[in-house]
Amino acid sequence: MTSVATVNRPLRIGDLELSSPVLVAPMVGITDAPTRALVRELGAGLVSSEMVPADAVVRAPEAVRALLDFPQDTHPVAAQLVGADPAVMADAAQLCTARGAAAIDVNLGCPVPRVVNRGSGAALARDVRATVRVLAVLVAAVRVPVTVKMRLGWDHHSINAPELARALQDIGVAAVTVHGRTRCQKYLGSADWREIARVKEAVDIPVLGSGDVGDARVARLRIRSGMVDGVVIARGMLGNFWFVRQTVHHIATGEMLPDLNFASRIHLARRHLDMLCAYHGEGRALRTGRKYVAWTIKGCNGAARLRAMVQQLDTRERLDELFDQALRAGLGPEGWFRPAFTSGEG
Ligand SMILES: Cc1cc2nc3c(=O)[nH]c(=O)nc-3n(C[C@H](O)[C@H](O)[C@H](O)COP(=O)(O)O)c2cc1C
Repeated sequence: MTSVATVNRPLRIGDLELSSPVLVAPMVGITDAPTRALVRELGAGLVSSEMVPADAVVRAPEAVRALLDFPQDTHPVAAQLVGADPAVMADAAQLCTARGAAAIDVNLGCPVPRVVNRGSGAALARDVRATVRVLAVLVAAVRVPVTVKMRLGWDHHSINAPELARALQDIGVAAVTVHGRTRCQKYLGSADWREIARVKEAVDIPVLGSGDVGDARVARLRIRSGMVDGVVIARGMLGNFWFVRQTVHHIATGEMLPDLNFASRIHLARRHLDMLCAYHGEGRALRTGRKYVAWTIKGCNGAARLRAMVQQLDTRERLDELFDQALRAGLGPEGWFRPAFTSGEG
């Protein structure tokens, strides 16, 4: 068992010292700058942009400018790149660090056809030598830590995460995040944390575990028992960003902060929507923010009528009206339940 002294030592990724071993995962359509600022405020030790194609960063930087904005209140923040061409990846990484990214993370886990058919994401990770070629060029190109996010392997017959992590450690990769599913599982089935722990046994650099992080106590046990150095929250915070605060606090102190009641949950959601509006402007923020509103009011009395209102959401006034109605209606007999969000991009 890892000693408490080791557990209490801050997590370091290269020269970055993190305030907490709880990270928030890169998520397409979710981890924009204002959302990253909110989860940093709630204590996340490191946040990341969503995956951005390296060739777009190099050839059409304006098109991806918003994805690669790293305001001070989101620091430390990693830029996540996806691609397979070493020179393009290196150029893209340099552009990202020039914009203020504190680390470069390479996506080796994305399962979607438009990415794997180009030899990137989970497809690149199948070939350890090709992955090493890309990462070696990248590590030499930037001064910030370079990390990767991988799956266990392509399928259950080709688990190669320990071997890949070791090869990447040898060329200077500073940390690995392991999503405990294979490419073929996509987002289905449970993440296998015993397989994640095998990666931890294989390397000396920090290993961060991803997959079904939804219980602060379990997350703490996994760190304390030495299975991983940190945990990465993804779908577990959708509709309930407070989960980030609870996990950070529990891991640091062993105490469990109570769940938010419905009114406080709505208060936090309002604050998030305010941040989205301030950053993106009201129209865009409310369109992209509808999903958060729907997740927040799930389980509320009269949810069907309120859900119809969510579809119409286009002004701040309507949003306030909707949240006020939800508060008056209160939670239904089943209480709040987590959104069933099984599909993702990366
Ligand atoms: C909507 C959505 C978007 C995602 N986008 C990315 C991404 O851009 N890059 C990445 O490495 N992983 C991405 N992922 C995968 C997550 O980072 C995480 O590894 C995965 O969801 C497993 O964690 P979970 O079971 O706790 O959700 C995405 C997942 C979801 C649900």
